Amino acid sequence: MYRTVTCGELRIADVKKSVTLAGWVQRVRKMGGMTFVDLRDRYGITQLVFSQDTNKDVYEVANTLGREYVIQAVGTVSERSNPNKNIPTGDVEILVNKLNILNTSLVPPFTIEDNTDGGDDLRMVYRYLDLRRTAVRKNLELRHKMTMEVRRYLDSKGFLEVETPMLIGSTPEGARDFVVPSRMNPGQFYALPQSPQTLKQLLMVSGFDRYFQIVKCFRDEDLRADRQPEFTQIDCEMSFVEQEDIITLFEGMAKHLFKELRGVEFKEDFQRMTWHDAMKYYGSDKPDLRFGMRFVELMDTLKGFGFSVFDNAAYIGGICAKGAATYTRKQLDALTEYVKRPQIGAKGLVYARVEADGTVKSSVDKFYTQDTLQALKVKMEAEPGDLILILCGDDTQKTQKQLSELRLKMGDDLGLRDRNVFAPLWVIDFPMFEWSDEENRLMAMHHPFTHPKDEDVPLLDTNPAAVRADAYDMVINGVEVGGGSIRIHDPKLQAKMFEILGFTPEKAQEQFGFLMNAFKYGAPPHGGLAYGLDRWVSLFAGLDSIRDCIAFPKNNSGRDVMLDAPAPLDQKQLDELQLNVKVKNV
Ligand code: AMO
Repeated sequence: MYRTVTCGELRIADVKKSVTLAGWVQRVRKMGGMTFVDLRDRYGITQLVFSQDTNKDVYEVANTLGREYVIQAVGTVSERSNPNKNIPTGDVEILVNKLNILNTSLVPPFTIEDNTDGGDDLRMVYRYLDLRRTAVRKNLELRHKMTMEVRRYLDSKGFLEVETPMLIGSTPEGARDFVVPSRMNPGQFYALPQSPQTLKQLLMVSGFDRYFQIVKCFRDEDLRADRQPEFTQIDCEMSFVEQEDIITLFEGMAKHLFKELRGVEFKEDFQRMTWHDAMKYYGSDKPDLRFGMRFVELMDTLKGFGFSVFDNAAYIGGICAKGAATYTRKQLDALTEYVKRPQIGAKGLVYARVEADGTVKSSVDKFYTQDTLQALKVKMEAEPGDLILILCGDDTQKTQKQLSELRLKMGDDLGLRDRNVFAPLWVIDFPMFEWSDEENRLMAMHHPFTHPKDEDVPLLDTNPAAVRADAYDMVINGVEVGGGSIRIHDPKLQAKMFEILGFTPEKAQEQFGFLMNAFKYGAPPHGGLAYGLDRWVSLFAGLDSIRDCIAFPKNNSGRDVMLDAPAPLDQKQLDELQLNVKVKNV
């Protein structure tokens, strides 16, 4: 037997027991005639003691140990004279009488400890070593627990896990596809699924009325902290349901996960907000509701007083930062620079402080009387000590987005975005379509199979841009953790949708013929949702990036620096695939 116990389990009650442990050498400390080794495995760290007096041979071998050597140690559990309160095994140590070096190790390129000296890039190259660190390992353990709970919950509700193929056809909507050439079909390509959307809908036609799958999805899009080119969805679909049924069931699952994995109980229903209100009050379809600072529209209050910037604006909006009137001129200048950065793109920032005596001092005092500034204070519901921040612009949506960035920044600065506070909500009533300047046409905001709200169906002919969808997102702390919709199951309505999206009947048939044909054979009313597993785990683990809860993630350029992928193919492989590579601009 390589081991009788792990490095995480021995306690004071185990003193005098004979044990065998195996693991990695984290640290070696030599003191007089004693050598101390921190032995690590997945479960924890246990201190080994080697003594020159009691066992000289073993002591001498111990002195040859290097960091990350793999060893087996046999010995007796003993009480530590100098306990380490920071680790659960800190009351005991092992007096070793037999030591086996199972494998040596090169000196690792960074220290494998909680506070490592390795930078991000280096740790990505040696990800297998980084995964030995407790912090990273804990994230994967949480991920495992999460998938276990998801399966338990969905199984208890009668869901069936069904696998769908990874090699499918390319579809035009959504993000770009990753494609895979087919050797047996020269010149033809599979696409990796951006999601199993159409396949799960086919499963509904097949009668699997409650489907789920914990499934890899692939999207060739620009990366961000909460986006990876391959990520995992908890993908679900149900038949004979309405929006309310889906929201109820998956809110139940969210509450279950919160309770089991974070010990947080939500007694009330999650808040719901229309997309329209989310944009109006927070300038975002994924508002962070851990704090207030709702937008207040100030057109009537501030326009028409000779301040041309406001007078020419299509939108003027403000937020009230409680207690922030103490911001210095320097801090306000820094905020102004922040909103003027190209990523945000505001032209400037106007501020107004409410002084202790209730008077208002603003950066545009010369244009406004104290009476007008008092009206501003009332409109903003500001009190002495508060800071009002105002942005304006000639494009309402753009300006609201800028104000949203400013709101988040103030939330950060004022410490209002606590990782241990969770503010979930459903954003509902999304618009069916959004205009794409790039494509010069309406695009499906969710996807082309989304059902319009029944009461808005007549608008499809007259004003499609105003049509709302039976679509919903779950948002927690400003992160979209899931989304879904009721689907169209009527082939005629689906055909109309494709028409509005600019597909000719031939093109629609070519791209989605399989689905439209299937729907002619008795498609049940259905709908579903997909949660982003990586985002849930990183939210629960309090991570900045989903990368940290993925065993082998890609970097920001979409590369796996450990495997050095992607990489060119060798000529033999290209020949087999009958492909010529012609790369531009390299
Ligand atoms: P959607 O595109 O909204 O919906 O994706 C569902 C959820 O998946 C997560 N997600 C991502 N996570 C990490 N990296 C990415 N690149 C990434 N992209 C998306 C998000 C998101 O809410 N088929 C539909 C679902 C449905 O209608 O049932 C779909 O894929 O958390």
